[in-house]
Amino acid sequence: MARASSPGKLILFGEHAVVFGEPALATAIDLRTEVYARLHDEWLVDGASLEDTKYAYVRRAVESGWKGPPLWLEIRSMIPLGCGLGSSAAVSVATLGALAALQGPVDVERIARAAFEVEHGVQGRASPIDTSTASHGAAVLVRKEPGEGLLWRIDRGDRHWFLHHCSLPPTVFVVGNTGIAAPTGPLVAGVKERVDRDPRVAAAVREIGEITLDGLAALQRADLVRAGELMDRNHELLNLLGVGHPLLEKFVAAARPFAYGAKLTGAGGGGSMVALTDKPEEVRAAIEAAGGKAFLVGTEPRGLEAAA
Ligand code: MEV
Repeated sequence: MARASSPGKLILFGEHAVVFGEPALATAIDLRTEVYARLHDEWLVDGASLEDTKYAYVRRAVESGWKGPPLWLEIRSMIPLGCGLGSSAAVSVATLGALAALQGPVDVERIARAAFEVEHGVQGRASPIDTSTASHGAAVLVRKEPGEGLLWRIDRGDRHWFLHHCSLPPTVFVVGNTGIAAPTGPLVAGVKERVDRDPRVAAAVREIGEITLDGLAALQRADLVRAGELMDRNHELLNLLGVGHPLLEKFVAAARPFAYGAKLTGAGGGGSMVALTDKPEEVRAAIEAAGGKAFLVGTEPRGLEAAA
């Protein structure tokens, strides 16, 4: 039998813009997905068929990472589904990790590349930020050029992403969830359409890229006031990209009096927002009073772990 586990993620700056090759920053979080795999006489996932549409990522991972006999896969996840916290990337990475562990030593870079292909295949258009963060752990900075801490480079058509390890001070964030699971693929496609027809939206994408680099520098020098201002501006620009939601506005507004800054995180259209704060309990209570589900997540150094 093999077991693999992989963390969820929070995008702190740069979601959507990263799909166009702009910089973005994500941190792994202390919520994980585990996948167990063992040889079996028929294909099973959690006792059900691999053909079930809810296992689209698992099925693609199996198609790309396994040529052997049928397997029985079991998935245990602490990452809420469709919340913008990287549940699909974590299950893709952990599935590929478990399959690789059954076959020999596990190469994390190879898994990160394969998981990006899985996510791209299911979503239609994607960047490698979620899958690389779920593979590497810690924090991951995507840039247009290679720099210090380079992990790997991933290309797709004329887009190139250089993924870097990056250190952030251990931090607890507050996540507010709308309870609306909006699929990422159509949101990403919608942003592409807007960028292609409106130069102001294309400019917003570039500004988000600049915000990411400033935001990283602010977090690294522990300037939470500046980092929070940049999160607020990033949120405004994400609304311009058309991925906001009235509930996200409500929760962001509820959090801000107790936070340095707050923004939607992940694909948006519902999903979740994140707040940077030194008063996490106050923020959590404010989001819940506004009707959201709120919880605390911490940064996580561990990426993919897999063993047979
Ligand atoms: C989703 O977590 C992040 C997006 O930027 C999509 C992607 O990068 O593939 C919205």
